Amino acid sequence: MLRVVVCVSGGGTNLQAIIDSLADGRIRNAQIVRVISNNPGAYALERAARAGIEGVCVSPKNFENRDLFNDALLEAIREADPGLIVLAGFLVAIPPQVVSAYPGKIINIHPALIPSFCGKGYYGLKVHEKALARGVKVSGATCHFVDEGLDSGPIILQKAVEIKDGDTPEILQRRIMEEAEWVILPRAIDLIAAGRVVIEDRRTRILPAQE
Ligand code: GAR
Repeated sequence: MLRVVVCVSGGGTNLQAIIDSLADGRIRNAQIVRVISNNPGAYALERAARAGIEGVCVSPKNFENRDLFNDALLEAIREADPGLIVLAGFLVAIPPQVVSAYPGKIINIHPALIPSFCGKGYYGLKVHEKALARGVKVSGATCHFVDEGLDSGPIILQKAVEIKDGDTPEILQRRIMEEAEWVILPRAIDLIAAGRVVIEDRRTRILPAQE
């Protein structure tokens, strides 16, 4: 059974998609052992509590400096002994000590088709504002491994989503969540739990299912 820690900052709709997928069998051989939020007010913590999952808040505001926060975050992860860490709308730059403690074991969901609209300053609604401002006709979501860079790790799954006339950042954000994020993030966790995702030369290969 893959032990999964989910890190969140806000609404937690991606966390909910994981919880629902574990319940209905779209994710097999995995369990969420802890939800960590940097934000005490995150509705995601409420979703965790409702699902009977332990929720922990590690807020930078409670620490004197970033190093102490980073150490506390690593400790909160370590205590849960995860085989996989899922950044599901975790809007904190993941500290280098966490990346080096869990190489190839951290994944992120990003609300655009990487390498478009990613990197510094591209998070949450801003991603969709910039995609609409550029006038792209498709956007989507990417699930990828986390490395030392920002949105630069090996890509696991991507799904494109059409942009429609009259889209606002909010409308586009919702469509990308529904059609892409809530689909590919649970799918990636299921593939990883089945041992079907291999990293090779900064890319991934999805192995065929074993019958
Ligand atoms: C999601 O759209 C996720 O892709 C995005 O934040 C939102 C969180 O929503 N993440 C990033 O922008 C990371 N760079 P949620 O809390 O409802 O899952």
